[in-house]
Amino acid sequence: MKTMSASLVATAVTMALCAVAPTGHAANAATTAANTSAQPWTDKAKTSAQRTELLLKAMTLDEKLLLVFGYASGDQLAQVDSAVIPGVNTKEVIATVIPGSAGYIPGIPRLGIPAQHQADASIGVRNPNLERTSLPSSLATAASWDPRVAEAGGRMIGLEARLSGFNVMLAGGVNLAREPQNGRNFEYTGEDPLLAAEMSAGLIRGVQSNHIVSTIKHYLINAQETGRNIVSAQVSVPALRMSDALAFELAIEKSSPGSVMCSYNRVNDVYACENAWLLNSTLKGDWGYKGYVMSDWGAVHSTVLAATAGLDQQSGFPFDKAPYFAKPLKEAVEDGSVPQSRVDDMARRILWALFDKGVMDHPVKARPIDFAAHAKVSQAAAEQSLVLLKNETSVLPLSAPKRVALIGSYADKAVLAGGGSASVTPIGGNAVPGLGPGGWLTQVWQPSSPMKALQQRMPSTQFSFDAGTDAGSAAKAAAAADVAIVFVHQWTAESLDASLTLEGNQNDIVSAAAKANPNTVVVVESGGAILMPWQPDVKAILAAFYPGAAGGEAIARILTGEVNPSGRLPITFPASTDQLVRRQIGGKSDGPPFTVRYTEGAAVGYKWFDLHGHKPLYAFGHGLSYTSFELGGLQSELPSKAKPQLTVKFSTRNAGSRDGESVGQVYIRAPQSARWEAPRRLVGFDKLKLKPGQTGTSAVQIDPRLLASFDETTGEWVIAPGTYEVQLGAGSDDIRATAQLSLTGRRFTSAQLRR
Ligand code: BGC
Repeated sequence: MKTMSASLVATAVTMALCAVAPTGHAANAATTAANTSAQPWTDKAKTSAQRTELLLKAMTLDEKLLLVFGYASGDQLAQVDSAVIPGVNTKEVIATVIPGSAGYIPGIPRLGIPAQHQADASIGVRNPNLERTSLPSSLATAASWDPRVAEAGGRMIGLEARLSGFNVMLAGGVNLAREPQNGRNFEYTGEDPLLAAEMSAGLIRGVQSNHIVSTIKHYLINAQETGRNIVSAQVSVPALRMSDALAFELAIEKSSPGSVMCSYNRVNDVYACENAWLLNSTLKGDWGYKGYVMSDWGAVHSTVLAATAGLDQQSGFPFDKAPYFAKPLKEAVEDGSVPQSRVDDMARRILWALFDKGVMDHPVKARPIDFAAHAKVSQAAAEQSLVLLKNETSVLPLSAPKRVALIGSYADKAVLAGGGSASVTPIGGNAVPGLGPGGWLTQVWQPSSPMKALQQRMPSTQFSFDAGTDAGSAAKAAAAADVAIVFVHQWTAESLDASLTLEGNQNDIVSAAAKANPNTVVVVESGGAILMPWQPDVKAILAAFYPGAAGGEAIARILTGEVNPSGRLPITFPASTDQLVRRQIGGKSDGPPFTVRYTEGAAVGYKWFDLHGHKPLYAFGHGLSYTSFELGGLQSELPSKAKPQLTVKFSTRNAGSRDGESVGQVYIRAPQSARWEAPRRLVGFDKLKLKPGQTGTSAVQIDPRLLASFDETTGEWVIAPGTYEVQLGAGSDDIRATAQLSLTGRRFTSAQLRR
């Protein structure tokens, strides 16, 4: 369990919350608010904004303050002196909060405002007491390059949240994988702002389709876990607007999440949760965001600063040093240091989200869940997401070899999951208990056995399993088989950063197997990129990321060819750490505050590799199929009155003999005069399912921000006039066609695009 501030236990707060008491579930609350004349905000014919204003008028200051202050779960609250929050009976809160949940905000029954029950996170409902379905990691789903896959996953986990009694899901991680060693990259959606935004937006739309709130996070540039509470991420405003912030901007537009979570770190010296540039000017000002900003758990450091900079809800207050938004906020309003209008605005934003996402009208209630159906959703996501990196001499799909040796990573019983607040308790329990640092960072292995799934599909093949702990024994097992499949893993988790070098002797195990058997295949379960010193020596490599609740099935179906792999890398796999911007993560978690200078600016991931001419091990966008595709017919249509966005059209033909899915990727290369951060950017993509011989056509609309640079002095996006090159590829390193494009110069703001 994450630890909360000990100083809280002794803090005395005397906030008077008079008639306000925490409620039970939202169900009672919403149904008691039936009388529309006495409670005009219950009138569903009105807009969310109108209903919000009507409800706001009926609220007392104390009720508004109740809405902006978040509790953590009972276990944590039990450690807090009940005197901390007089007026709210802590015992009642403990009785109402769903045990093990991430957070809780009491409801206000007299007004029909439901309690907010908050659950992590992006791959499923996390709760140590509840077994729930886990999707593949968000990075894996991003590798599907198909927002529909993310949306289906979001629908499923959002439904599990609703059926578990949660109405706020802390799901929607969209931080760019700017730092390949960031231990939380598995929770995010890759290194490119457009891809990351499309995939996170899909998830958020899916979650919110259940009439619950989803929370996009962590705003902004929480790019490493080391020292996340003390680090200042130093990066220029234009660079941020064209990279990490752009991912948020686009994702918010495409999915309208009810809330945004501000991050732990400082951004250019100012804590994200008290950063007026981030919250007031950019998010709420320039982007016109209407929902509310909640803090990450332990990310608040002040009352007046945070409130006036734009923080709307202090979350999980026991994780902060003080209950800043309880009594201190009331006092600040009373002495005028925080205007009453600011507290109104906080409450307005929360209420708006609750109305707009359907939380007010559709009370949540714990009910049975169809786990078998949900496992299928998770499996389908994994099958769209696993990336075949290498397949020499077509060793895959397996063609009924007599003997197969499986080696390593508990492949006889499980697949790995990432750790921390995004780790979901598996249905059936942890298949390999007792590993990892322990507590909330216990390693979780999903009980989905690749070996069993392979055995079911290949009844006449003899399978052996070697634990993969000793190179000699692994070599022996490999030598005795026709095909050796070595499973390697990299466990990454929240609060820790990752090493790209596989732990223990896993590299030696692969090399030993490859030496002993020319048909060696490697399956990589990882949080993100890893180094593969054995890459030239093995026949095939499948990147499985963390493949989720039915990952073993998905891996088996791809290895046997029942499913044709169609994932493409959402990140770059470097050939060595020498190619990275930073060879090592800076700072220390327990040291003095420090700064990380993101000198690469917006040149994140493949853009950095392009800029410096580095040849990665596997490029962004790379991924093989068991069939082959021809891409052509590249055409651009300049923006017109009828179609204000540039459109790029192309066709794709399945030139092989199997059904398969292609991801056509459109990049644009800018002239020098445009002074982009790097030579080119991904501007669009389209995943198509095609039968052998079939041709599909695509028309992708290009967001003008992807063609522009951000001008900090005017707050405008600027497209430089000139000749650009449109590139159509099957990967960033596999460009099949190019065309020239002549653009006239243009300036515009984000606000103008919304009109
Ligand atoms: C994480 C958030 C999470 C929150 C609540 C924090 O440690 O950074 O992503 O939503 O805890 O559990």
